[in-house]
Amino acid sequence: MGTYAVTGAASGMGRATAERLRGDGHTVIGVDLRDVEVVADLSTPQGRTAAAAEVLDRVGGRLDGAVCAAGLGGIPGREGTVQQVNYFGVVDLLEAWQPALAAAGNSKVVVFGSNSVTLTPMVPESAVQALLDRDPDKALQVVEGFGKGAAPFAYASSKLAVTRWARRSAISPQWAGVGIRLNVLAPGIISTPLLEEQIARGEKEAVEQLPVPIGGRGNPADVGEWVAFMLSPAADFLCGSVIFLDGGSDAYFRTDDW
Ligand code: NAI
Repeated sequence: MGTYAVTGAASGMGRATAERLRGDGHTVIGVDLRDVEVVADLSTPQGRTAAAAEVLDRVGGRLDGAVCAAGLGGIPGREGTVQQVNYFGVVDLLEAWQPALAAAGNSKVVVFGSNSVTLTPMVPESAVQALLDRDPDKALQVVEGFGKGAAPFAYASSKLAVTRWARRSAISPQWAGVGIRLNVLAPGIISTPLLEEQIARGEKEAVEQLPVPIGGRGNPADVGEWVAFMLSPAADFLCGSVIFLDGGSDAYFRTDDW
């Protein structure tokens, strides 16, 4: 049995993942704002440093895997927080945990991206680049330039940047080179509290208008199954992949473009 760190373990897909892993007999250290082993605010550098250190303390410097599911949707007025949690809340923790993942050998990491990385048109490249350059002030400034249209760009820029970071890192000597499998799961519309909040904010129409060829919405327990599979020995040859779990929305918009 393994030891896994799961961020966002208090709700939605992170919670479903933690429950699935525990059901298999694994040890899970949850990281979230509440109701978990390591309570931390991943929107601040201090919160991220403390969370990373506390997890390492609890696992004795050896991690079989990590799942980064903590995240926010495109919330108007909270663009900076969205970029901080969705990008730095993944990258800072995984970089701090890299030695522990390397120590385990054949460890696996699943980063939660989003199908918004291919569905959102005209995401400002300079915001994505600023995040990759670790310049949160510039990333926020770029999206704030879009005024009332800033929130979807804050979200999509954070998910694009974290997906690029994951793919670049996945194939590097520091990750693939030491046996760490790093992959991205890109969900579409999944019935979680995050989605309910989005609908409550008045985005019901936008959610319903998104083409989902297979119909309906995904459910968190199924996503948990996918994550467990991506952490299992069956995924030993999976490296730097982005798995779209979105009922066909990405295929609808990018049928021949991949
Ligand atoms: P959720 O809202 O149910 O769970 C997210 C968790 O992240 C919550 O427990 C929340 O407390 C935690 N979190 C948020 N800000 C935090 C902070 N500052 N510090 C520590 N923890 C924090 O959301 P859901 O839907 O399960 O989302 C999981 C991931 O999947 C997120 O990264 C989200 O962006 C992504 N996603 C969700 C989609 C959906 O339709 N639900 C679609 C595509 C991607």
